Amino acid sequence: MSVHAAVDGSGAAASRPVTIHDLATARRDGERFIMVTASDASSGAILDEVGVPVILVGDSLAMVALGYDSTLPVTLDEMLHHTRAVTRGVRRALVVGDLPFGSYQAGPTAALHAATRMLKEAGAGAVKLEGAGRTVESTALLVEAGIPVMGHLGLTPQSVHQFGGFRVQAKDDAAADRIVSDAVELADAGAFAIVLECVPESVGRRVTDAVDVPTIGIGAGQHTDAQVLVWHDLLGLTTGRLPRFVKAYADLRSEISAAVKTFASEVADGEYPGPEHTYGG
Ligand code: KIV
Repeated sequence: MSVHAAVDGSGAAASRPVTIHDLATARRDGERFIMVTASDASSGAILDEVGVPVILVGDSLAMVALGYDSTLPVTLDEMLHHTRAVTRGVRRALVVGDLPFGSYQAGPTAALHAATRMLKEAGAGAVKLEGAGRTVESTALLVEAGIPVMGHLGLTPQSVHQFGGFRVQAKDDAAADRIVSDAVELADAGAFAIVLECVPESVGRRVTDAVDVPTIGIGAGQHTDAQVLVWHDLLGLTTGRLPRFVKAYADLRSEISAAVKTFASEVADGEYPGPEHTYGG
């Protein structure tokens, strides 16, 4: 089955849920795919209807949906709440729940506890954890427990204070080598895919060549197996200075403003509600 079955309109196969094995097949077949974030049932349902194979309930929702200036404040309970909403709207896509800052850094046991809740209480099909080192051990334990794990390397936003801001990572050879070896360790520990955020294109290519699981880039150039964007960025809902890698495929912020202004003026003019919106009797 193509991971894009629903997009191609190729029929019955589209109803089968996407699994981590379909993503491995896509990588093997050189089929590039996308992942998009969602934080509620309606965004999840739209992505699912369009045929997006992987939906990430990313902790970026702390910034784009909850108004924080980093991903650090969002709690596991809040992530579970949003993931539950998304899984209620999704029939086919693989839903990946992000484990938030503080829920797994204590080590494999904490990670197992948080990840178990993500699958059991929120219906996610996989979890995402940032970083390497201890996260590699946690990945191995989760995979052994039957929980699919997506890794995340490069600019890992939960470490923003250590990085001193949201900056491009792995700019020198030593740091690039380190990301490649971290990716190999994560893949060896059983991660089914690895997100690479904000690294030079050459690093995206090196990691993709070094591992045999799909790489999913965001600001990692052309040579990853897949690309991910945050819903609000993709649709032109975010304001302010955006990272270079963001491409807005719509300008929904302007469309929403125009729609709300029209609503206000129609109410002011007595044009809405019209007879077609009004109950008789
Ligand atoms: O939280 C998120 O949205 C993410 C993506 C940027 C990969 O981790």
